[in-house]
Amino acid sequence: MKRSVVLTWIVLASCSFVGFVGCEKKPVAPAAGSKSSAAVADKAGTVLVDKGPQLGPANDKPAESPAAKPAERAAPAPPAEPAKEEKKEAPAADAKKLQLPTEKIAAAAKPAAQEEVLLGIDDLTKGIPGEGALTIEQIKKWLDDPRNHVVLKPTLPQGLAVGAGQIAGLDKNPLTRAKIELGRQLYFDKRLSNDNTVSCASCHSPEFGYAKNTQFGEGTKGQKGGRNSPVAYNRILSSVQFWDGRAATLEEQAKGPIANPIEMSNTHDACVACLKGIDGYTLQFERVFPGEGLTIDNVAKAIASFERALVTGASPWDYYEVFKTFSDANKEDLADLAALKKDDPKLFEKYEALKKAAEAHPISDSAKRGGEIFFSDKGSCTACHVGANFTDEKYHNLGVGMEKPEPDLGRYAITKEEKEKGTFKTPTVRNVELTAPYMHDGSQKTLEEVVEWYDKGGHPNQWLDEKIKPLKLTAEQKADLVAFLKALTGPLPKVETGRLPQ
Ligand code: HEC
Ligand code: HEC
Repeated sequence: MKRSVVLTWIVLASCSFVGFVGCEKKPVAPAAGSKSSAAVADKAGTVLVDKGPQLGPANDKPAESPAAKPAERAAPAPPAEPAKEEKKEAPAADAKKLQLPTEKIAAAAKPAAQEEVLLGIDDLTKGIPGEGALTIEQIKKWLDDPRNHVVLKPTLPQGLAVGAGQIAGLDKNPLTRAKIELGRQLYFDKRLSNDNTVSCASCHSPEFGYAKNTQFGEGTKGQKGGRNSPVAYNRILSSVQFWDGRAATLEEQAKGPIANPIEMSNTHDACVACLKGIDGYTLQFERVFPGEGLTIDNVAKAIASFERALVTGASPWDYYEVFKTFSDANKEDLADLAALKKDDPKLFEKYEALKKAAEAHPISDSAKRGGEIFFSDKGSCTACHVGANFTDEKYHNLGVGMEKPEPDLGRYAITKEEKEKGTFKTPTVRNVELTAPYMHDGSQKTLEEVVEWYDKGGHPNQWLDEKIKPLKLTAEQKADLVAFLKALTGPLPKVETGRLPQ
């Protein structure tokens, strides 16, 4: 009896709610930058070094796959098949046989098995071609193009490329252009929230480096949680999500905010019902997830795919580091450039190209010195900020917020392990310049403040990480560290923030 009353209430509530919100109505015009926005004007296309290592088989063993030592795991995987994707379906022997027109059409519609693609390029996130709100005709045309359903085999831009072995989640949720594009629409669509006011981008906005410039995320009706919005890029290198790692996959993470009462304040059922009222979405879900269609799990899969396409391109530090490593390794040969040009033109050419790229993305001497400290035993930043994405994906207590009478205990709330009290997941420091304020509670406003925090050895508490000790840096060294962190900013792809189905 009681149960049926509750059920009726839920049904009524969600129906009236759907009616009230008017899901079918035209998408709310995106607030700012409705065309395209790129956090950094540069182009990811400026990636210099070949294409980075090829991917090995993606691993999707979130919890147990220890991302512990990304640097070690960054060894180039075995070379993948070359991108000769134009393999025609009909084998050569049959080529002589005359094809019926219908067979020809079928063969043309069958996409190549896989396409290798460099992540971070605008091509994947620029939206369905056209202007203004998406029309059904445009969506149909897009879905009819077999190229948009080809499984993508991503490679990473310079800098991140050494982390190829860490790529997670693609075996269970392969990337395609159509799926990334569907995820893009959902990511920017406020209709995912119960009152059409909040989208993922409200707290992870391209304008603010895919984070938000407020201390805490602000959900519907201005509600605030107690944690700072982390970044939504480079997620492809990380399986476990949230400051406390409570979501095992990016897909699981994406479902969270929709039903979180203080974020998008919706229910999964109501969200799905709402999206089902929008023809442009049902059409896309049917084609992108054949036989499954529009479910909350597929909403999450699409959003996760979009996020996986958001990666940071090479930063000035990456260009400098590659050039420096190359120069150091070939010191003797490079001593006489004229001779090198004659004796080993290939090596000379490579030298010239790397030098040119480094000069086109200049880095200050201060940042170079800061890099020395970051990677040194003295700074010991790489004890935790390690590997391609500068994170060990582990949990540490820096003492942030621990002075409070009832501090946020972070990872402890998930594992109940005493030693994890007050620990939080190491965030990436790529593009960190763009994502103030800092730390899980957004309590530190500038990178200078963060560096001061490390210099004094964090905030003492009984669970403080043993690697956090007073650094006793000079004022110049602190400024150098900040300059280094700022040299880690690389371009993100241009992303269409409007263009939603009506
Ligand atoms: C109201 C603000 C808000 C909204 C809306 C929101 N988020 Fe978040 N997001 C946060 C905060 C705050 C956290 C950190 C929470 C925590 O760790 O407990 C977070 C965490 C994340 C993370 C984990 C990143 C990491 O490094 O572990 C991802 C990914 C993410 N959000 C993506 C999304 C997506 C996708 C959506 C839309 C479906 C979304 N967010 C909606 C505020 C928001
Ligand atoms: C013991 C591991 C560890 C070491 C060593 C370490 N960090 Fe961190 N870093 C973290 C963790 C964990 C956080 C988040 C802590 C929190 O929010 O409570 C963090 C946060 C940061 C942030 C803020 C990022 C953001 O998006 O909020 C920056 C910047 C940073 N660290 C830079 C450095 C620098 C520079 C050093 C060296 C001086 C360093 N870290 C050393 C683990 C570490």
